[in-house]
Amino acid sequence: MKATVFLGGGRITGALVAGLRLAGYAKPIVVHDRHARKLNELKRQYGVNIEEDLHRAVDSARVLIIAVRPGSVRGLLKEIGTEKILRPITVVSLAAGLPLSKLRAHLGPAVRWARAMPSPVCRSGLGLTAVAFSRGFPAASRAEVRDLFGMVGAVLKIPEKRFDAFTVTFSSSHGYHALAALISAAEKIGLDRKSARVAAAHALADGIAVWREGKSSLDELLHEAATPGGTAAAVMDAMNRAGYRQATVRGLRAGMKQAAKNARG
Ligand SMILES: NC(=O)c1ccc[n+]([C@@H]2O[C@H](COP(=O)([O-])OP(=O)(O)OC[C@H]3O[C@@H](n4cnc5c(N)ncnc54)[C@H](OP(=O)(O)O)[C@@H]3O)[C@@H](O)[C@H]2O)c1
Repeated sequence: MKATVFLGGGRITGALVAGLRLAGYAKPIVVHDRHARKLNELKRQYGVNIEEDLHRAVDSARVLIIAVRPGSVRGLLKEIGTEKILRPITVVSLAAGLPLSKLRAHLGPAVRWARAMPSPVCRSGLGLTAVAFSRGFPAASRAEVRDLFGMVGAVLKIPEKRFDAFTVTFSSSHGYHALAALISAAEKIGLDRKSARVAAAHALADGIAVWREGKSSLDELLHEAATPGGTAAAVMDAMNRAGYRQATVRGLRAGMKQAAKNARG
């Protein structure tokens, strides 16, 4: 049986493989990476098959997942070479910023290209993966890609022109970043580390969980949580005056700029 093959055995491959195993994914998984240490660790933890030879890894693939950093993608695709892929095969790039138009220039016409942007939260089965398909991508192969990422969380098809904006917005790093900032601010106003962590985690996670129940709008929830003239209102006003919203826009714009830089190579 042909396998799901990951080229690159780093952070996101580790998270995806962990999520797939958690979900009971039973099909063979092969990982190729230039670091034997990473491969052995993935084999030890998740029972994946490891393949140190790139061409043998590609040959064993039913679905090939490109999981190297954007700057390494071209080199990897050149190493594979076009003559190596003559059969129809689904290749899914996880590389941020690299558009399908550039990816299609590699590996020959038999390849069906898709992009996917999973979140490392897929490790726990709670992730979200954005997907985009090249034109003419067969319906059965789309379903195969959706089913694969669907094992580790929700899957959302995004038009490619909005893919990068979606990517920089949905990163789980926002939650971790906000959590780290809130914990550190709480310590500065005198809370001990343990209490700061508990308070900050509840502040961020609980309100969002309630909003996701869909019973109240965000405006209603903000109104309920911040009594006019109260402490929460004072905190929000001060944060907004200090440029909280502008800083968020600047952050997302920087992510978009990096995605465009990845695309240029
Ligand atoms: N991390 C995330 O949360 C996340 C989420 C969604 C998408 N992505 C995308 O997923 C891709 C991988 O990200 P990552 O964070 O997992 O990167 P990573 O931890 O650096 O893993 C990539 C691995 O691939 C290896 N590699 C690179 N070129 C290779 C080659 N030609 N042959 C064999 N192995 C090679 C790297 O080795 P070296 O270190 O020696 O280069 C490294 O071990 C990126 O394109 C990123 O945009 C990441």
